[in-house]
Amino acid sequence: MEQRKLPKHIAIIMDGNGRWATLQGLPRVLGHRAGVETVRRIVEASSEIGIRALTLYAFSSENWDRPSNEIGDLMHLLDEFIELELPTMRKNSIRLRAIGRLHLLPETTLVRLQRAIQETAQHDGLTLTLALSYGGRQEIVDACRRVAAEVKAGAVEPQQIDESTLAAHLYAPDLPDPDLLIRTSGEQRISNFLLWQISYTELYLTQKLWPDFSKQDLLDAVEEYERRERRFGRRATAESLANGNG
Ligand code: FPP
Repeated sequence: MEQRKLPKHIAIIMDGNGRWATLQGLPRVLGHRAGVETVRRIVEASSEIGIRALTLYAFSSENWDRPSNEIGDLMHLLDEFIELELPTMRKNSIRLRAIGRLHLLPETTLVRLQRAIQETAQHDGLTLTLALSYGGRQEIVDACRRVAAEVKAGAVEPQQIDESTLAAHLYAPDLPDPDLLIRTSGEQRISNFLLWQISYTELYLTQKLWPDFSKQDLLDAVEEYERRERRFGRRATAESLANGNG
């Protein structure tokens, strides 16, 4: 049997909850609620097919500009998600993590999140990372601040700083860069997600709205990824040219 080359790390921009709700004549909050169901489905499916890491853009730095009732709804859904998902995390040995300016989250949500992170820290299955109050530019700024503090303390010389120095000061430096980035709802943007980490990530854009994104859609994205040849800036091989992947 041919060896599969599954992506080790999949990142997802989960977009289209609001449009899904509007199309159904429902309030936006019910779109987000349906979005959480998709999260649970996709976490389970990823774990089942053997993906090692899944990073979900659940709340961006820019989402703080939404009306306060929508922010409240999203935080409430996050609280609920953590409680509902914990049994699955235990059953499937899923490790929960979070990246972003987490100190900006409401205290109760932060405490619940940190408890779940702590409880699942030793799990060795899928690593599920929630990007919360997250912005890619902010992450790079935060990393620079930490490097600058080390320079100021005399621990690092400016000329010693290279890509690995900065990468080591990101929010989750031990996570590998995503192999595949999926964005739902037909938008063709990165929206400040994982800017440093996606330099050579394969992009998969789909029209499907996030609440409609199914396990089969995930499998389709993975299969498409497996058909691609990743070159990281190098030249195509003779074999790939023969296969039409020039
Ligand atoms: C985009 O929909 C989605 C978000 C704002 C973040 C994703 C949030 C969820 C899936 C629910 C909460 C997640 C967890 C993990 C508890 P949108 O409102 O931008 O959709 P629109 O572009 O159609 O308006």
